[in-house]
Amino acid sequence: MRVSPVEGFDPPALGEPYLLTPGPLTTSYAVKQAMLRDWGSWDGDFRAMTAELRRRLLALIGDTKSEYDCVPIQGSGSFCVEAMLGSFVPKDGKVLVLANGAYGLRAAQTMQYLGRAFTLIDKGDYLPPRGDEVGAALDADPAITHVLAIHCETSSGILNPVAEISEATYARGRKLLVDSMSAFGAIPLEVGRIRYEAMVSSANKCIEGVPGFGFVIARKSELEKAKGNSHSLSLDIHAQWAAMEKTGQWRFTPPTHVVAAFLEALRMHEAEGGVAARGARYMQNRNVMVEGMRNLGFETLLSDRWLSPIIVTFFCPADGNFVFERFYELMKDKGFIIYPGKLTVVDSFRVGCIGRMDEHVMRRVVEAARQSLAEMGVASAAPPQAALAERAKLAA
Ligand SMILES: Cc1ncc(COP(=O)(O)O)c(C=O)c1O
Repeated sequence: MRVSPVEGFDPPALGEPYLLTPGPLTTSYAVKQAMLRDWGSWDGDFRAMTAELRRRLLALIGDTKSEYDCVPIQGSGSFCVEAMLGSFVPKDGKVLVLANGAYGLRAAQTMQYLGRAFTLIDKGDYLPPRGDEVGAALDADPAITHVLAIHCETSSGILNPVAEISEATYARGRKLLVDSMSAFGAIPLEVGRIRYEAMVSSANKCIEGVPGFGFVIARKSELEKAKGNSHSLSLDIHAQWAAMEKTGQWRFTPPTHVVAAFLEALRMHEAEGGVAARGARYMQNRNVMVEGMRNLGFETLLSDRWLSPIIVTFFCPADGNFVFERFYELMKDKGFIIYPGKLTVVDSFRVGCIGRMDEHVMRRVVEAARQSLAEMGVASAAPPQAALAERAKLAA
């Protein structure tokens, strides 16, 4: 189906559906258009683009003392997480991994592959790791050198309390690494407010670029110390940084078109009003969508306190006529691609709030959900009792 334009926002090109997913996500026409030109990776024009990209990303963390630097890395977000852990955690270091969903567990798996020591706090599908738990774990194990926190755990949509995690970490003289993949650019991570050594994100999340690379923003002193730590040639952040500083070039073939698109996305991010405005739009997207879905009888997994403006998990309705695969297809027919859930205990699905969309789009999402339920003969979108009992654990 062809999606009609929304005022102020260009529709996805060629009438493709909106991606209500946590990336790849719906990008602007200008971002897509920026990929229509070829660039020589060694050429001065492209080197200037790389320099601008690094400068613009750094500007987002409010690094007034110029203590941090930005290093882009080819590949998807997981490549950057692996690069960060392999480069900043010394071979004899030990990481406390804070998990409450798939991405925390993937970081733990990455540590296993690296063959470096780690310990895990696993809070299950969605309970937040809290500062006091982190403090207790650090007190109990003096060998821990680093803490790895997931900013927004995209598998449930929970916004983890990184500020209190950071306080607990530095109060005990340890170092914090942050996976801010799905949050950076929309949720503040200013170094003046939250202390950390390094964070990672990728091009196809809240900055609204297309997939192909990610980036690390790290304290320069940590970048210097990272020399010789990495297990991997291509994921060695120190080597990538040193080469970029010296030559202005990426060490290996850069995703030139993706970089061009990302620069356009960064300029649009600034024009919109930066992190605050981007976050406000996503928040409004979420509020409109969640309110509308609740009016239809859907329930969110998380209470409002932990809901992120990034992606929201809903319980599947208990009504026997509800089949997620059919709901998905009906939503897609109406121009909206939603996302399956990742909970282990009860059935769920997710709706993303990020990407080139505004509240007008979200109202149409709710209307599409209403129509889809009617077409399936679902009388009530209320979840099963088991789901509500599961949720009650959050409040406990
Ligand atoms: C918090 C978080 N960490 C890591 C990743 C992994 O990124 P990728 O799938 O691009 O490898 C994602 C992906 O959505 C994520 O949301």
